[in-house]
Amino acid sequence: MNGSPLILDRAELDDRAEFREAVLTGLSSTPRAIPAKFLYDARGSALFDAICELPEYYLTRTETEILRRHADDIATLAGPGCALVEFGSGSSVKSRLLIEALQDLSAYVPIDISRQHLDATANRLRRDYPRLKVEPACADYMALAHLPDDVSAANHRIGFFPGSTIGNLLPVEATAFLRRARGLLGEEGAMVLGADLKKDPRRLHDAYNDSAGVTAQFTLNLLRRMNRELEANFDLAAFAHEAFYNPVEGRIEIYFRSLKPQTVTVAGRSFAFAEGERVHTEYSYKYDDAGIATLARSAGFTVAQTWTDPARQFAVVYLVAP
Ligand code: AVI
Repeated sequence: MNGSPLILDRAELDDRAEFREAVLTGLSSTPRAIPAKFLYDARGSALFDAICELPEYYLTRTETEILRRHADDIATLAGPGCALVEFGSGSSVKSRLLIEALQDLSAYVPIDISRQHLDATANRLRRDYPRLKVEPACADYMALAHLPDDVSAANHRIGFFPGSTIGNLLPVEATAFLRRARGLLGEEGAMVLGADLKKDPRRLHDAYNDSAGVTAQFTLNLLRRMNRELEANFDLAAFAHEAFYNPVEGRIEIYFRSLKPQTVTVAGRSFAFAEGERVHTEYSYKYDDAGIATLARSAGFTVAQTWTDPARQFAVVYLVAP
């Protein structure tokens, strides 16, 4: 967060090379796009945590409330003795609700690409639940090939993918992820999945255009990151955050948009921007019951149970492999 350290370790060098490659490819493509995962450097992750607290961003609060209300129902469906596998665990706040409700949990397996996040989460959980076996896996959950051996041996594995992160994947990617997860969770496996629901477009618009401008800072932080890590010279005042609901595709689309004609240098290469030209950063797909059922089916799951809040803003579903 406080600028680049002078010496980078091997993993940081690899991350930076991957970021450079993705940015140069994304800015050279038509239309321009940079993958959403690069939004989450330390400052981006802190800004996302702040987004979750915003009055307009109902997703986190609503899902947490659904989980709080139905954790025992989830535990009943899961049965005793399962292992809980969280895909992209972050700080694992919501998983605590399940950890506390599931009976005789055999292990908790947080999977996260950030070693720092993962170690901090695992240490906190070991402190707070001394009898719980915590088996962290440092990996990209989109590409994980196998679970730790003793967890794979547990005959009953429950996946957890909260936060509507599934919505940040294109439908084909969402299917591929769930299919892979199904393979990891095994024949007896099940998946607890959080998905944001389609609703009044104004409500959706406000959730991604908050009045305090935190979401705009989150998007523009990507420019700041390019300036710091790729020796770019983006003028943050000359670009704006843009987010809108696309009703045909059923998704929020997020971009940064150039406010004037300008040329920017990134990693020694020049990129010209016309006024109004934009670079895509995120999709956030919104689902309905039929969409969730179709997605589940495409990955070999069926929906065993759906829980929503009274206003039907968000859904938590329990998927089983029939
Ligand atoms: C992480 N993900 C579910 C968020 C969402 O709502 O799609 C990311 C986000 N981007 C801007 N605001 C929130």
